[in-house]
Amino acid sequence: MLARCAPGATARAVCRRPDPPRRGVSNALHFYSNKQLELYANKEAKRLTLRQLVFFGRSMNEERLITSANYVRTELPVRIAHRLRDMQALPYIVVTQEGLAKVYELYWAAFDKFRRYPQITTVAENEAFCKFLRNLLDEHSTVIPSLSLGLSLSSPYLAPDRLDSFMRRMLVSRISRRVLAEHHIALSKDYQFRKDGKQRPEHVGVIYTGLNVRESIERCTRYLRDRVFDIDRDMPEHSNTSAEWSEVIVDGHTETQFPYIKEHLDYIIFELLKNSFRATRVKHPHAQQLPPIRATIVSGENLVTIRISDQGGGLSTPQIKSPSDLFSFSHVRNATRMEDARLGALRTVSSSTTGIKATVDEQLYAMNRAATEDAPDRSAPHPRIGIGLPMSNIYATYFGGSLELVSMDGYGTDVYLRLPRLGTNLEGIEL
Ligand code: COI
Repeated sequence: MLARCAPGATARAVCRRPDPPRRGVSNALHFYSNKQLELYANKEAKRLTLRQLVFFGRSMNEERLITSANYVRTELPVRIAHRLRDMQALPYIVVTQEGLAKVYELYWAAFDKFRRYPQITTVAENEAFCKFLRNLLDEHSTVIPSLSLGLSLSSPYLAPDRLDSFMRRMLVSRISRRVLAEHHIALSKDYQFRKDGKQRPEHVGVIYTGLNVRESIERCTRYLRDRVFDIDRDMPEHSNTSAEWSEVIVDGHTETQFPYIKEHLDYIIFELLKNSFRATRVKHPHAQQLPPIRATIVSGENLVTIRISDQGGGLSTPQIKSPSDLFSFSHVRNATRMEDARLGALRTVSSSTTGIKATVDEQLYAMNRAATEDAPDRSAPHPRIGIGLPMSNIYATYFGGSLELVSMDGYGTDVYLRLPRLGTNLEGIEL
């Protein structure tokens, strides 16, 4: 729990003196002891491109593995320090909201552990470091719903632009840290594999060097179809649950392959297809056969474009005026952000431990599921936590791509996902 201060005050500027610690109450003295933090926050993040991650990892030897370990060990506290400082600059009433306060504590603890972690000099020490990273990754598995809850509760106190740019920095930075940590763990496994005489030729760490886009679409379609009953459960009563699910037609350059992080592409495709399936069922309540969803892949010189078109009626609702407001965490742009049912679902997810799953889409599924766990009537629709689309947007833009939603109100939606195919863009913007 953070010490009290005048609402509206900027935490960093005004709240320098905490109340004395009360017995049994954790008092975040570190909130004010900024010396170590400043040291790290003043350093610049060393941003990387996807291509650099591949080149460095391709010919791994012991020396490079140790260099990679020490890069992660020294880079992550810098990136975390930037975000801690970002949080300290928020009005105090914001950073003390449930959810945000929890994330602040988690980040401070992680920052402290990283800065104290000794230099890694041997493969055995690297193994211990990988375990340390894995534990932190698991401990942080509920950060996104916690942040989302905290920002929804804070939405009345922050202007929409400020709220959204803060959230964007938090999410991009988090993706970047998780990529670096997961990449290093995967490189360490690859190294061991090769020593044992085995190979994973299509990977370098977490990057698939020839990721097949059609296979990703088919994988996500299968995954969604297998869970049709779970997804039906959170639909409005009048939706069509008796017809077969829409067919997904894949056309265009169907053999497109490019180097990318499979989990990121899968996350986005999964989310877009889920939305299309749902919307189509709701829009055509009495159809025997639902209109298909079309996924068109285009392999350009610099970009891979995937367009997903559905006939689910489009995106505009009384609460959402412009499709891009679906990416917003502010209740001014997206009124659903402060709905009680959604806040309750976020609370459940952010305090659950079931979010720890092997793949991103399993995590997403677990999140949706956890939201229903306490529902008295399992057949009742459950509130959606509304994280999938903003997160897809963040994943798409992390290495310089884009996600654009085009609504043809009354008919359907076209979504354009564009991802750079050369891997030469630097990560995020402000890390
Ligand atoms: C996060 O998941 O938010 C992280 O910062 C992970 C990192 C500590 C490995």
